[in-house]
Amino acid sequence: MIKKLRKAVLPVAGLGTRFLPATKAIAKEMLPVVDKPLIQYAVDEARAAGIEQFCLVTGRGKTSLVEHFDIAYELEATLKQRGKHKELQELREHHLPPGAVVTVRQQEPLGLGHAIWCARAFIDEDPFAILLPDDLVLADVPCTKQLADVYAQTGGCVVAVTEVPREHTSRYGILDIGRDDGRLVEVRGLVEKPKPEVAPSNLSIIGRYVLLPDVVEHLARMERGAGGEVQLTDAMAKLIGKVPFHGLRYEGRRFDCGDKVGFLEAQIAFALKRPDMAPAVRAFLKDYCAPDA
Ligand code: G1P
Repeated sequence: MIKKLRKAVLPVAGLGTRFLPATKAIAKEMLPVVDKPLIQYAVDEARAAGIEQFCLVTGRGKTSLVEHFDIAYELEATLKQRGKHKELQELREHHLPPGAVVTVRQQEPLGLGHAIWCARAFIDEDPFAILLPDDLVLADVPCTKQLADVYAQTGGCVVAVTEVPREHTSRYGILDIGRDDGRLVEVRGLVEKPKPEVAPSNLSIIGRYVLLPDVVEHLARMERGAGGEVQLTDAMAKLIGKVPFHGLRYEGRRFDCGDKVGFLEAQIAFALKRPDMAPAVRAFLKDYCAPDA
């Protein structure tokens, strides 16, 4: 029997050094794209895939993330008093039911695999999604929903993948691929951040996964991989051949919001999707980027 996917783990312990000084006093996952923080995009995306329980793997200085998912009583009372019903409504749309979010702390920065292992009690014996909030995906069908649909059919692990230029393979987890129908690919091997000359393909993992809980026992060994870190990719690789394992060429566009240019691209792309903003943003870009400007 294929268990229903209800849980998501969101690793959010990173220091955000690439965005200093913006991230000196606030979590990088609180940086907004247009008017919504990155963490909210991740939670909304997971909810659209039917996920009901969330585990934030946090670290020091990340309390704003926990605050974000609480009810801001004073703020709501003030909005109500001032008749700001639209704003109140928008705020309430993002409420999660009591108990839907738990947090664990990753006390040391030992890698993504270690962060997921920190959530082991939450994962328990259930399948779970992972969303890395730095990766933002603009898609008609939310990326995690696309993965969840594959999981519901295969009952195995599935990761979101996309082709990258060969010279970029050392930035990602890379697939060694078996059968490939152009959308779903059978995963034959996984390598974390291989150099282009030894990369088994140029198909890379983005920050969206649906995994079986079996991965936790491999993480528990704390074997160090690329960069001296406990790598999720290495633990996932141990499951190949034991459970169904696929890569999904998701439909949509991924923005790397851990990178300044990627973050800026996301602002523009998401603003252009907003009917209230698109005409003004498009007009500005046309004018500002005109060849003779
Ligand atoms: C992590 C994973 C990597 C994956 C990437 C996607 O790397 O380890 O396999 O391809 O996320 O964003 P990081 O970006 O944390 O170095």
